[in-house]
This record gives sequence, structure tokens and C-alpha cells, in this order.
Amino acid sequence: MPPAVVTKDLRRSWDEREAVRGISLEVQEGEIFGLLGPNGAGKTTTLSMISTRIRPTSGDAWVFGKHVVKDVHAARRLLNVAPQEEALYPTLTGAENLDFWARIYGVPRSERPARIERALAAVELGSRRDDRVETYSGGMRRRLNLGCALVSEPRLVLLDEPTVGVDPQSRVHVFEAVRNLRAQGITILYTTHYLAEAEELCDRIAIMDEGRLVALGTTAELLACSSASEVVELRLGGPTERLPLLERMPEVERAEQHGSIVRLFTRRAEPLLARICGQGILDQPIVQVGVSPVSLETVFIELTGKELRD
Ligand SMILES: Nc1ncnc2c1ncn2[C@@H]1O[C@H](COP(=O)(O)OP(=O)(O)O)[C@@H](O)[C@H]1O
Ligand SMILES: [Mg+2]
Repeated sequence: MPPAVVTKDLRRSWDEREAVRGISLEVQEGEIFGLLGPNGAGKTTTLSMISTRIRPTSGDAWVFGKHVVKDVHAARRLLNVAPQEEALYPTLTGAENLDFWARIYGVPRSERPARIERALAAVELGSRRDDRVETYSGGMRRRLNLGCALVSEPRLVLLDEPTVGVDPQSRVHVFEAVRNLRAQGITILYTTHYLAEAEELCDRIAIMDEGRLVALGTTAELLACSSASEVVELRLGGPTERLPLLERMPEVERAEQHGSIVRLFTRRAEPLLARICGQGILDQPIVQVGVSPVSLETVFIELTGKELRD
């Protein structure tokens, strides 16, 4: 069985600018695969090439072995997209919206009711099936938008930032819906600029920045890319003048200061702390000490030189 998605040196230019600069990756059937990157990284453009909505400038992509340009119709039958912009009719009910999309996708009349019920169940909207969409919360509309992609019974679902502007509780529901799909063997390609979301939901993550793939792996594999393994956080009595000194210590991979808080990225916290305390390196008293393992955020900063924040 070919992988769910294969891309080889995929590129796309808009006007003269290259937005996607050679993406090669593989997504296995049944996994939740995350494309993580800041706004403008090229996530949507990559997703749109895989979903056959836009043509690559060069390079190739296959969906379950079907080429997205040469076998475009076969590829399209295997996938569907829940786009960032909701495509819903507010005055129709949830079930009517799903029926509308089922017709668009050419689902035979006899099969439509069962497909609609399965889609409603997958996104947990069965109890609201006969309510007009204009009465739905933002989170419910997002889930219905996902449901609309399911009525074509795709084997690959592409979700483009499905939780942007959604409250935390609705986000949990979106996650549940995505996990329900995986449990049914459906492959998910999920884009997000929320680091914690990728870490929580995705089996594997590809980090994108400025059109390129900068790292790919499970969260554990990505964490292993970091030169540090622990972060020592010192809360001091006031801002210190000694940051340059701390940065030069051989145990310190990287140091940052935010007011009276100093963060030191290191391979081993214990000997570092012993030296700082024992040698009186600081010009401020230490009020509090915290040690935590490095996070995906640390790795992201190391790889891209950027913070990934809203
Ligand atoms: N239809 C378009 N026309 C021109 N430029 C575009 C278009 N779509 C995206 N871009 C540009 O391509 C780059 C990548 O955009 P996009 O793929 O939307 O990134 P992301 O989804 O990661 O935010 C950006 O610089 C964006 O301005
Ligand atoms: Mg986007």
C-alpha cells in the first residue's frame, strides 16, 4: 500500500516569490500529521497542492499513489479538505448543509442519509442535526465544516488551522473529532501555528518556516534535536547585569533574561546550579529556582531563530 501522502521537492511561486521551496515528506496511512509553522510559512500553499486545489510550480505529490496533477481525478476521490473559511449556509440546518455537500460530491441519493448520520456522529453534532446553523456556536460551526468534508468519505482529510478563533472547550471537541477520524483509519493532515496543539494532537510534526521544512519527527524526536535538554529558570531579586557571564559558562547552551527572570538552557541542570551558587556568579539573590525539560518551543526557536506566538 503506498503512503497516504508523498511529496518530492514540491515548490510553488506566487508572482515572482517562492512561497514553498522544496518540501519532501511522507505521511503514513492512519496518522495525524501536523504541519507547524508561523503565518506565511507556506502551510496553506503546501496543503492546497496536496489537495489538488493549486498546481505545483515544480516537484511532485501523490495521494495514496495517485499523482496530484497527472491522476488528479483519482487523487480527488481519495481526499477532502475542511478549509479555513467555513462554507456553510446559516439558514439551513446542520443535516441540510451536509446533504447539500453530499449532492455536490455526487453521493447517490440512497447513500446520502447514512453518510450524513455518520458525519454528524463523527463531529458529535447528532443532537443538533435539525437546528439552523445560525444558532450554532463558533466551535460547532467548525465541526460541521469538518463534517461537510466527511460526506465524500475521504481516506485523507486535510484540515487547515481548524481551531483558529475557537474557544478552548470547542477546541477540545475539534480534537475529539479528529481523533475519532483516526480511530476509523482516516489519515489527517493538520496545519497549525499553535505549538502546543501540534504537540498534543499530532503523531508526527513537520516544522515549516519560510517555505522550507526545518525538522520532521515525533515530538520526542524533535526534542532530541535541541542542544539543551533542561531549562533552569532563576527568579532573582532584580534584573542582573551578569547575563554575558552566564552565557559564557560552558554548561550554558543559551541564556535569556526577562526582567528579573533568567532562563538557562543546558544539558544538565544540576552541575550548572552548583557552579552558579557555589561561585557567587550572580549580583542578585536567587528567590526561586525551577528546572524543567526543554519544550518544543525551545526547539522551534533554535531551529528558526523565531518565537511561535500569536
Ligand atoms: N493566492 C496567493 N497569491 C499571492 N501570494 C500568496 C497567495 N497565497 C499565499 N501567498 C503568499 O505565500 C506565502 C505563504 O502563504 P501561506 O501558504 O498562506 O502560508 P501559511 O498558511 O503558512 O500562513 C505568503 O507570503 C503569502 O503571502
Ligand atoms: Mg494558512
